[in-house]
Amino acid sequence: MHASYQNEIYLRGLSGEAPPFTTDATRLDAAAERVMEPGPFGYVAGGAGSGDTVRANREAFARWRLVPRMLTGATERDLSTTVLGTPLPAPVLLAPVGVQSILHPDGELATARAAAALGVPVVQSTAASFPLEQVAEHAGPRWFQLYWPNDPDVCVSLLDRAARAGYTALVVTLDTWTLGWRPRDLDLAYLPFLRATGVANAFADPAFRAGLAASPEDDSEAAVLRWVGMFTGSDKTWDNLPFLREHWDGPILLKGVQHLDDARRAADAGMDGVVVSNHGGRQVDGAVAALEVLPEIAAAVGDRVQVLFDSGVRTGADVVKALALGARAVLLGRPYAYGLALAGERGVRHVVRSLLADLDLTLGLSGHRSPALLSPDVLRRA
Ligand code: FNR
Repeated sequence: MHASYQNEIYLRGLSGEAPPFTTDATRLDAAAERVMEPGPFGYVAGGAGSGDTVRANREAFARWRLVPRMLTGATERDLSTTVLGTPLPAPVLLAPVGVQSILHPDGELATARAAAALGVPVVQSTAASFPLEQVAEHAGPRWFQLYWPNDPDVCVSLLDRAARAGYTALVVTLDTWTLGWRPRDLDLAYLPFLRATGVANAFADPAFRAGLAASPEDDSEAAVLRWVGMFTGSDKTWDNLPFLREHWDGPILLKGVQHLDDARRAADAGMDGVVVSNHGGRQVDGAVAALEVLPEIAAAVGDRVQVLFDSGVRTGADVVKALALGARAVLLGRPYAYGLALAGERGVRHVVRSLLADLDLTLGLSGHRSPALLSPDVLRRA
């Protein structure tokens, strides 16, 4: 059914209508660069250091090839699944992407509407341009991503607000307790947060506001400084995890897991899931491609926790490969951010529908009726 977007596009072509922009997610960056300001474009496209890990994430996919099977009756397919109690129309979620107002004035609201129309869950970032309650009004299924603030009262307050606003799972990002060295942003001296953008969740938070001498509306500079001190600069340890469990009733996933032992530790600590991810290559230049460590992590902990994956997913084949290598679902990052920059809500919808259609067709044409039937056997090392 996701594949029907293909027919829709061709049929519209009969009346002279073309898609709003390319259906090839590997060309979205070039399309977006033509319409975006250099600062926001660099912020999305950029990676840490030399960009080695951004490239490695993509190269890792090219090292696997699908070996399609024939005569399997794969015309009837069911891509739906459930992850930690959340029903998904296909094993795809939208990754947390902060500061979306630098991409489009409607930012996270447009993304939430596009995802809701398709039933695809969004993982809402702590670093959003709109407060999580406002995003929730436009959203369908939703999880909350936590950048773990240094102030425990603010942390508890954020978690309470997210639970009350209907976010059902917590994704705790571990790899960004401070920003990586990002030359594209540094060369333009561009960091949206210092311009009081992407700080809406904190600025709207009663516990955050309680620590300020003047409200953020009256003294934005002081509020930004408090934000910086609270959301960057201090790493947590495994000993801190029970604090989150105490203050969050739903499932908890740890995002940014890359080492097998960390995945084991997450499972031992009673976490419900891990997101194998290197933050799209934005944090540690030279870090291993996320796809490369996925099989060993899935094999080791896949029976105890849900293993999700992101970093480098662009095509339907990429999703099939990640699922075959043990992911339960994948998160999509930059492509939908470019879609938002190119055409707002409609742009996000186009990017997500294109990925789901490509996934549906690739799965079927490879001879598989359901993502649940995928295993490493469907792949071969290139
Ligand atoms: C991100 N990512 C991210 N992750 C997170 O946990 N919280 C956040 O606020 C953000 N913000 C953010 C902004 C931008 C512009 C990008 C590109 C990425 C990381 C994101 O969730 C995901 O891990 C990567 O984007 C996945 O890699 P791809 O799909 O972009 O290659």
